[in-house]
Amino acid sequence: MTRASLDKKPRDVAQMFDDVAEKYDLTNTVLSLGQDRFWRKAVTRAVDARPGERVLDLAAGTGTSSMPFHEAGATVVPCDFSVGMLREGKRRHPELPFTAGDGMRLPFADGVFDAVTISFGLRNIADPGVGLAEMLRVTRPGGRLVVCEFSHPTWKPFRTVYIEYLMKALPPVATKVSSNPEAYVYLAESIRAWHDQPGLAALVRDAGWERVAWRDLSGGIVAMHRAFKPLDR
Ligand SMILES: C[S@@+](CC[C@H](N)C(=O)[O-])C[C@H]1O[C@@H](n2cnc3c(N)ncnc32)[C@H](O)[C@@H]1O
Repeated sequence: MTRASLDKKPRDVAQMFDDVAEKYDLTNTVLSLGQDRFWRKAVTRAVDARPGERVLDLAAGTGTSSMPFHEAGATVVPCDFSVGMLREGKRRHPELPFTAGDGMRLPFADGVFDAVTISFGLRNIADPGVGLAEMLRVTRPGGRLVVCEFSHPTWKPFRTVYIEYLMKALPPVATKVSSNPEAYVYLAESIRAWHDQPGLAALVRDAGWERVAWRDLSGGIVAMHRAFKPLDR
C-alpha cells in the first residue's frame, strides 16, 4: 500500500491512485456524505460546455468528472497520470478518449482547448503553479478555467469541527470502505496544507489567468475558482 507524502513525489501520488482506483468513486460519495454530486453539478454549470467545444478534464481519474461534458455534446479529453485510474475509467466509459499525461508537462499543443477544468486534482500536482501555467498554455485565448478543490470552511467554529472530523473520523471510516485507508490520511493532511480561497486565486492569477473569481460550495469545504485566458496571449 502506498501513501503519498506532502512533498508529493509524482510516482508516489500516481501509485497511490493506482491502488484506490477500483473503489475511488464509491469512497468519495461515502466520505463526502453524497455532497460530491452537488459539487460536480456546480462545476458542470460553471464550465458550461457547448456542443462542439473541446474540453480538457485534467486529473480526470476514472472519468466521473468528465462525463457531464460528454453528455453536453462537447469533446472532452480526460487526462491523468495514474495508469490504474485510466484503466478503470476506460472500463467504465469506453467512449471517452482517456489520455495519459502529467499535468506539469501536458501532451497537447498550445491553445487547443476552449475550456480546461480540474476537479480535486490541483492539490495533488507537485507544483500547482506549473500545472496552472500548463493549463493556460493549452487553452485558446479567451478560453476558460474551472478549478474545483477542497478549501477552507468560511465559518470559523465549523472550520474547527471540520478539521477535527477530517483528521479523526476520516481514516477509520476509510478503513471500512477503501482498499487503501492510508490514501485518506494523505487526503486529510493535504487538505489541511492546501491554500485558502484568496491564496488559490492569487496562484491562478500569478500563472497568467485573468478575471479570477471563486464560489464557495458546502460552506467552503470546497471552492470553485473560475478564470479566463487573456485574449492577447
Ligand atoms: C482525487 S482524484 C480526482 C479525479 C476526478 N477529477 C474526480 O473528480 O473524481 C485526483 C487525480 O489526480 C491525478 N493526478 C495527480 N497528479 C497528477 C499529475 N501531475 N498529472 C496528471 N494527473 C495527476 C491522480 O492520478 C488522480 O487520478
